[in-house]
Amino acid sequence: MALPCAVGGAEGLGAFGGMVGAFGHGAGRRLGEQSQPLHFLQALAMNTAASAATLTIPTQAPVLVTGATGYVAGWLVQRLVQAGVTVHAAVRDPQDGRKVAHLQALSDAGPGRVRFFAADLMQPGSYAQAMEGCEVVFHTASPFTTHVKDPQRELIDPALLGTRNVLEQASHTPSVRRVVLTSSCAAIYTDAADCAAAPGGVLTEAVWNTTASLEHQPYSYSKTLAEREAWRLAEGQSQWRLVVVNPSLVIGPGTNPRPTSESFNIVRQLGDGTLKAGAPRAGFGVVDVRDLAQAHLAAAFIPGAEGRHIVSGHNTDLLALGQSLLPRFGERYALPRRALPKWLVWLVAPLSGLTRKFVARNVDHPWRADNSKGRQALGLHYRPLQESMDDMFSQMIEAGYFKKTQQP
Ligand SMILES: NC(=O)c1ccc[n+]([C@@H]2O[C@H](COP(=O)([O-])OP(=O)(O)OC[C@H]3O[C@@H](n4cnc5c(N)ncnc54)[C@H](OP(=O)(O)O)[C@@H]3O)[C@@H](O)[C@H]2O)c1
Repeated sequence: MALPCAVGGAEGLGAFGGMVGAFGHGAGRRLGEQSQPLHFLQALAMNTAASAATLTIPTQAPVLVTGATGYVAGWLVQRLVQAGVTVHAAVRDPQDGRKVAHLQALSDAGPGRVRFFAADLMQPGSYAQAMEGCEVVFHTASPFTTHVKDPQRELIDPALLGTRNVLEQASHTPSVRRVVLTSSCAAIYTDAADCAAAPGGVLTEAVWNTTASLEHQPYSYSKTLAEREAWRLAEGQSQWRLVVVNPSLVIGPGTNPRPTSESFNIVRQLGDGTLKAGAPRAGFGVVDVRDLAQAHLAAAFIPGAEGRHIVSGHNTDLLALGQSLLPRFGERYALPRRALPKWLVWLVAPLSGLTRKFVARNVDHPWRADNSKGRQALGLHYRPLQESMDDMFSQMIEAGYFKKTQQP
């Protein structure tokens, strides 16, 4: 049995990270289908009846999306372009065709468009040009990876200093009225065991992560420090309002054919045979990437939106995620079918790159979060978990993630 290495947070199952288009709800969409033309308001009506009636997407001013090449940002950019918005896409290398071609395709499909700007979280002032004239800034850029050698340099610095860089730039850009920060449930908790310690045994927006550190779940630590810094900067000015979305582990199909997000590594392990002997019942929450795009739009364009929002469709665990794939893919792929006992996971943890602390505090601990604020204030609705997993897994099969020999 091989269990991959650990990181932290719900995505911390990104911790198991070692282990652990389009509008509409059809299964099995493929790469490239993201450019299907469908009017934005139609899409909203399909996804969020409540907010569709009230959400107006202004198209006069451009909006900035940092980390536009990312998995989470891709659907957001698509929906903005389909609404007719000019998106200023801040990317590290606008010349890198492998990372920007899908965004260029979205732009070509219109009716809005994408303009590319070079910017780096670690270079103060580098977002100035991209932010010029923007009223809304979506700050999604932050490394989400579990395989790091130097967590300070690879996770904490870009998350924390990058957030400071982007938000300070917002204060120097008179047009900016709202900043939407892609934080994470990782800024609310570190390990599933933290749920039991939360008031009423359920995570809410009132809870802050106090247990992550450079040594334990550094990704969660990076997101916690970054969100705290965002609130500190927001409270020191009155020009723009900060609205935060706190997604749990993001699943569902990507718009970029070469995703870097840890989400894909987690799902890869469910299908590549790594967990064919079984999966630990390590608790976490999940949200579909398309529903998360909707949350970003609502956070940006609902006038009264404020504060943090847990954006999580389902309380689940790693085994349940794998089992959701059984009806459609169980015949052909070595999916996990049974729970690995905690003592066994604990025993082999060091060999798999997991810490025993991680196993002790996540395996067999149910994850519970209250998503009612996002449902009410942002009008969010969540699609079924199985639909998200089917769509993502189908796309990964098409992209060649799984070898045929991995059949049981
Ligand atoms: N996926 C999840 O489960 C999940 C859950 C909760 C929150 N989030 C948050 O969602 C956001 C996006 O994550 P993702 O899953 O979409 O991961 P991703 O696909 O790997 O995207 C990360 C983005 O951050 C950019 N970035 C990284 N370091 C940078 C730097 N030094 N300067 C400029 N840009 C930099 C990347 O740009 P390059 O293309 O140039 O590398 C990429 O666009 C992150 O804030 C993450 O914490 C993700």
